[in-house]
Amino acid sequence: MNAPKFFGRRKGRTIRKAKSFLLENFLQKVKITDETVFEEDKLFDTPVKEVHLEIGFGDGAHLAGLSALKKDVGFVGVEVFQNGIAHLLTLMTGVKDAEHISEAVTLLAERSDNVRIYDDDVRLLFPSVPDGFFDKVYLLFPDPWPKKRHADRRFINPDNLKHLARILKTGGILQIATDHPIYKRHVLRTMHECTNFIWTAKTSDDWRYPPKDWVETKYQRKALREGRRPVFFEYKKLV
Ligand SMILES: C[S@@+](CC[C@H](N)C(=O)[O-])C[C@H]1O[C@@H](n2cnc3c(N)ncnc32)[C@H](O)[C@@H]1O
Repeated sequence: MNAPKFFGRRKGRTIRKAKSFLLENFLQKVKITDETVFEEDKLFDTPVKEVHLEIGFGDGAHLAGLSALKKDVGFVGVEVFQNGIAHLLTLMTGVKDAEHISEAVTLLAERSDNVRIYDDDVRLLFPSVPDGFFDKVYLLFPDPWPKKRHADRRFINPDNLKHLARILKTGGILQIATDHPIYKRHVLRTMHECTNFIWTAKTSDDWRYPPKDWVETKYQRKALREGRRPVFFEYKKLV
């Protein structure tokens, strides 16, 4: 497939030695490639009851935290931003500085081997994923692209929803969080028009507060610091 245009950053500040080492040497142990077989027991080296996808995991705080809490769930994390991927690898291995670099870097002892990483645009991954493969998809604080002329860059759009509906199981969950007023309205309107999903909220508490077992993300903390209230929309995939 032709590479879709990606408008975010692929690289930020200089990546320090320990993080570069992890990207060059450890990433390959957990990375999804063209050869990866999308079958639960082949994708993970540990038995899993469900598989979740996190799109745009940023610095990986949510993915690292949730995968440590839910050892019987396999996670596929997708991120384009190299510095963010390197940060997630730091959280997974505990390697923070050049002193602790060694060829034999492994996952932290207390971690389960339940995370796989795709280090490119998730839209390139969609064609490799079988129908109904994921139980849950997280899209947390996506870039809001608030200007009208950038509206077609927003990740929640009919084309991406078609792919998400296909790769989610019937009854599977699409969890979207945002703190941006324009994106809040955009999600409600776009999801309402999409017949593959139904909003699960019964009362306002269901979208004003995060679900239980929630792990805060970097952008969520930033929003709270700056006085913006995040919302948590949960949609169920229909047949
Ligand atoms: C605003 S940040 C939020 C990061 C994180 N979820 C959080 O809440 O802290 C959005 C992230 O999504 C990533 N992203 C945007 N579009 C993407 C795509 N098509 N595929 C993979 N990652 C994407 C960006 O690189 C960026 O790191």
